[in-house]
Amino acid sequence: MRVPFLDLAPAIRETEPLWRAHLERMFQRSQFILGEQVEAFEREFAEAMGARYAVGVGTGTAALELCLREAGVTDRRMEVLTTPLTAPFTALAILAAGATPRFADVDPQTLLLDPEDAGNRATRRTVAFLPVHLYGRPCELEAFRRLARQFGAVLIQDACQAHGARYRGRSLASFSPYVAYSFYPTKNLGALGDGGAIVTNRAGIRRRLAMLRDGGRSGGHVSRIAGINSRLDEMQACYLRAFLTRLEEWNRRRARLAALYDEALKDCPGVRLLDRAGSVHHLYVIRVREREKLRRYLASHGIGTAVHYPVPLHLQPAFRDCGARRGDLPVAERACREILSLPLYPHLPESAVVEIAGRIREFYRRGSC
Ligand SMILES: Cc1ncc(COP(=O)(O)O)c(C=O)c1O
Repeated sequence: MRVPFLDLAPAIRETEPLWRAHLERMFQRSQFILGEQVEAFEREFAEAMGARYAVGVGTGTAALELCLREAGVTDRRMEVLTTPLTAPFTALAILAAGATPRFADVDPQTLLLDPEDAGNRATRRTVAFLPVHLYGRPCELEAFRRLARQFGAVLIQDACQAHGARYRGRSLASFSPYVAYSFYPTKNLGALGDGGAIVTNRAGIRRRLAMLRDGGRSGGHVSRIAGINSRLDEMQACYLRAFLTRLEEWNRRRARLAALYDEALKDCPGVRLLDRAGSVHHLYVIRVREREKLRRYLASHGIGTAVHYPVPLHLQPAFRDCGARRGDLPVAERACREILSLPLYPHLPESAVVEIAGRIREFYRRGSC
């Protein structure tokens, strides 16, 4: 059985009549930037995430950068505390806004930013906390909200991997005024190109974000504030509106497949499962012994895998000035050597999960040959 790491084609086929109707309408109107598709998607996405407003932007990275800019976190002396175990874009957005990323370690059970370590490493210069809902699992938002209050800092959530996630039954937007999403094609809700959005309950923030994404303008050709050019485009909104109608169902299927993996891999020698409570299962990640050998073994049986992420941010050249060295964040450093992402997408057959788990058990049973 060949199992690619990811296959988006069935989801695109399943929703074809919906996105074709939106595209048809878009071509009729011939408005390709900030038109009725983006407006409709912003309404629909905000409602689906349990918030009042959404602002569509060009990428998840821009969504994070604009949250920081809107919050005034734009000076190199301002520090933003985040996780070293994430896509580099989280910290690149901090640099793009003009501030400095600082890293705290992750929790060994969840691999999410550890609020206690974040509190210990925060300083008077910490003006924002930027936890990432990694792999789809929400961070400890109560704890981060307390930390933000304690330090007089703003809480910005990187929900780029967590479409539809809630924390203890409540919407993410009820914990802070900035929740950033990416619609990179592989996400739980992905466009067929780049896209992103910020979700908020505050009307003033929504208004300023809408200006910031469009050159600081609010209609017309006068820039009122120093914005950037990063708008979600009409065509991506056509696809996103169609895919959004399936998000809940697709997240349910992801949860079923993740539970199946958990059951099939529990007690497997060489494998450690993560705590996935409340996750929307963007990625199914395990910790393993002899990862590269296991990857080669799975590949020899036609099974695709990936690593999210192989190098913690503080050890990447782009972040060498951010104050942390090898050995400073030991949990994240070790995790990066052990984590392995297995195939997980809504249309993955359950039989594939059984097959993959069987191959992993076989690998360790044979003494990882
Ligand atoms: C956790 C996280 N943050 C930020 C981003 C950046 O999103 P984008 O690729 O849409 O800029 C991504 C996706 O790559 C991500 O996974």
